[in-house]
Amino acid sequence: MHPVTRSSTRLGLRELALTDVEAVHAIYGDPVATQHLSFEPRNREQVEEIVARSVVAAAETPRTEYALAVVEQERGELIGFGRLALDPHQQRGATMGFALHPQAWGRGYGVETVRLLLGFGFNDLGLHRIWGARAPLNVASERTMAAAGMVEEGVIREHVMKGGGWRDSVVHGILDREFFPHS
Ligand SMILES: CC(C)(COP(=O)(O)OP(=O)(O)OC[C@H]1O[C@@H](n2cnc3c(N)ncnc32)[C@H](O)[C@@H]1OP(=O)(O)O)[C@@H](O)C(=O)NCCC(=O)NCCS
Repeated sequence: MHPVTRSSTRLGLRELALTDVEAVHAIYGDPVATQHLSFEPRNREQVEEIVARSVVAAAETPRTEYALAVVEQERGELIGFGRLALDPHQQRGATMGFALHPQAWGRGYGVETVRLLLGFGFNDLGLHRIWGARAPLNVASERTMAAAGMVEEGVIREHVMKGGGWRDSVVHGILDREFFPHS
């Protein structure tokens, strides 16, 4: 599916463009925003590569990766990054990732972003299951995924190498019948 567009009251999802590098770098290059993510802050060149790869992946058939810009509708500015990647070994399953610029935190945008991604995955892609993995200390992500209806499913032990050591991940997941409880 290309191009993807979806919107909620305050936010929109759209395809990433090469002109988004600076705004994505403001998030992926920020030590606070990436503190609990699986990687160290990215430099500008790395972000250029990520965005370029995402633009190429968006045009592939079949498409397995949806790296999307989260845009504040009122100002039209990119304030975040959301991603769904189809699971290679599970039919109709996908992993989800999301990150917002720290200046956008604390206004309910995190939950709105996750709901947009879930709505896209279940409605438009017809997925059965969507899951995300967070760092054990990432309370903001825990509450955000819980508020969007994602259930804590368990721990992947020593999942991520970060800061010179292994780190566990906590998995949150949601099924289509939980997202559409009355259908
Ligand atoms: C996770 C993230 C998207 C949350 O964004 P946000 O816009 O601040 O979240 P919201 O305002 O929608 O709040 C959602 C919930 O999280 C809680 N929350 C947000 N930040 C918190 C924090 N630092 N500590 C504790 N709880 C927090 C809110 O109180 C709310 O909980 P509630 O529904 O129980 O009241 C944002 O912190 C972020 O981008 N972090 C860096 C990237 C990241 O960690 N991504 C997740 C990868 S798994």
